[in-house]
Amino acid sequence: MYRTHTCGELRMEHAGAEVTLAGWVQTVRKFGSITFIDLRDRYGITQLLFNESLNPRLDQTPIGREYVIQVKGKVLERSNKNPKMPTGDIEIGVDDFAIMNVASTPPFTIEEETDGGDELRMKYRYLDLRRPVLKRNLELRYKVNRSVRNYLDTQGFWDIETPFLIKSTPEGARDFIVPSRMNQGQFYALPQSPQTFKQLLMVSGYDRYYQIVKCFRDEDLRADRQPEFTQIDCEMAFVEQEDILNMFEGLFKHVFKDVKGVDIQEAFPRMTWDDAMWHYGNDKPDIRFEMKIKNAKANNKVNAEVLNAIDFKVFAEAESILAIAVPGASEYTRKQLDELTEWVKRPQIGMSGLVYVKCNTDGTYKSSIDKFFTEAQLNDFAAFCNANAGDLILILAGKETRTRKAMSELRLEMGNRLGLRNPDDYKPLWVIDFPLFEYDEEEDRWVARHHPFTSPKPEQIGLMANRENYGDIKANAYDIVLNGTEIGGGSIRIFQRELQEQMFAALGMDKEEAHEKFGFLLGAFEYGAPPHGGIAFGFDRLCALLGGQETIRDFIAFPKNNSGRDVMLDAPAAVDKKQLDELGMSLK
Ligand code: AMO
Repeated sequence: MYRTHTCGELRMEHAGAEVTLAGWVQTVRKFGSITFIDLRDRYGITQLLFNESLNPRLDQTPIGREYVIQVKGKVLERSNKNPKMPTGDIEIGVDDFAIMNVASTPPFTIEEETDGGDELRMKYRYLDLRRPVLKRNLELRYKVNRSVRNYLDTQGFWDIETPFLIKSTPEGARDFIVPSRMNQGQFYALPQSPQTFKQLLMVSGYDRYYQIVKCFRDEDLRADRQPEFTQIDCEMAFVEQEDILNMFEGLFKHVFKDVKGVDIQEAFPRMTWDDAMWHYGNDKPDIRFEMKIKNAKANNKVNAEVLNAIDFKVFAEAESILAIAVPGASEYTRKQLDELTEWVKRPQIGMSGLVYVKCNTDGTYKSSIDKFFTEAQLNDFAAFCNANAGDLILILAGKETRTRKAMSELRLEMGNRLGLRNPDDYKPLWVIDFPLFEYDEEEDRWVARHHPFTSPKPEQIGLMANRENYGDIKANAYDIVLNGTEIGGGSIRIFQRELQEQMFAALGMDKEEAHEKFGFLLGAFEYGAPPHGGIAFGFDRLCALLGGQETIRDFIAFPKNNSGRDVMLDAPAAVDKKQLDELGMSLK
């Protein structure tokens, strides 16, 4: 037997027991003739005290960091207890040991805090995974997985697998493609999601489906994006939007409670997409704090009367003038304001400047555009912004889309600076009534905002007859947002062939192309497709948020870096000429 107990298990009640432990050497400490070793495994760390009679053997074959050893001995009460360690009351008096494997000196320290840089730790991911931080993340991931499965099981969902070697699914990213040896010159695509399969399962009558499944998207990477990531993918038949929102609100409440002990009783707030854009500047509002955007001018329409009365060119020419009142920040210094101005000028934000109005606690104002405003006008403007004495009003002016995006970023930044974004404060909400279409300026055509299988609001189907109306049509589509991150999205689907064909046509696909790409789905809709809808959650994102972080990478055992590389495997990599020949391919 390799071990009788784990390294996280032994307590005072075991004192006197003869035990065998096995694990990795975290540290070796020598005090004169006495040797202490901290032994680690997945379960914890136990202190070992080597019997002095073992010294000749220890001198002959010294034990180093990360060696795998087995020890036999007795559980002893420690004279010097460590209340910070769960096993801190005891130690093992070691009478015998065996070195099961030696280890080279690890390239970074394998402890809570490490000295290893990102790339180095990615290269030696198997060592990094020994660190308690990553271990806790993977444990959390496992628990979320288990909790999700338990809930969906009680609700009658079946986990059904769908293939990875498929034809392109349009989720808005580029496909990863896989050449076929048996069908030379032809390619599979890896699924961006199981979207069409889950819809086909509804046609087959499996009315509650789910899968915790890998999805593949070739897109630019960010902290919350990986080229292969995991979705909790769900679909239901004979449901309306309301049924879906209730079912999955239940899932979230269950997971919060089960995994984090957080009991959310109230219904999740619901916000229309229009409201989210208007008040928060984006469709994934962080509602842990207020600081809503005030639309002094939006799309060239002036809403703050006072702006009509002032003669300030920058404001007159701007399509949009947006403001936020930052609570209690009127004391911001010149230096802080200059720094904030530099912040909005960074290329990622892209504004040409920042205007501020300090609402001093004595009722006076100090602004960067004092010469254009009288005190009374500033007072009016502050009232428009719902600003209180002691607040700092920040104003951005410029092109509608860019200004709105910049203001949404500035709001979040101020939320960070004021410490209003506590990761342990969970504030989920539904964003509903998304637009059905979105105009793609680059491609100069209308594209599906969610995906082409999303149904328009039934009462607006008529509007699809005329391209002019596309911008006004809303979809039966919804996102779930947690603390400023989109963690899931879905929709009620089109389930009639005619409407689906109309949708493809609206997206610029002629009949032939639609048939070639989605003939299987259109065909299925001819054989009794039930009304259906669903949703998919970003599993990695959910885990990261529940772990209080924004980066999903450390919640994935073997992630890719920001250039999509697996630096441990050194993939992607070139392939042999023979492999290319078999595929009938050559490189350009
Ligand atoms: P959608 O494209 O919105 O919907 O994806 C669902 C959720 O998946 C997560 N996600 C990602 N997570 C990590 N890395 C990525 N590259 C990445 N891309 C997306 C997000 C997102 O909310 N088939 C539809 C769902 C449906 O209609 O039922 C779909 O895939 O958290």
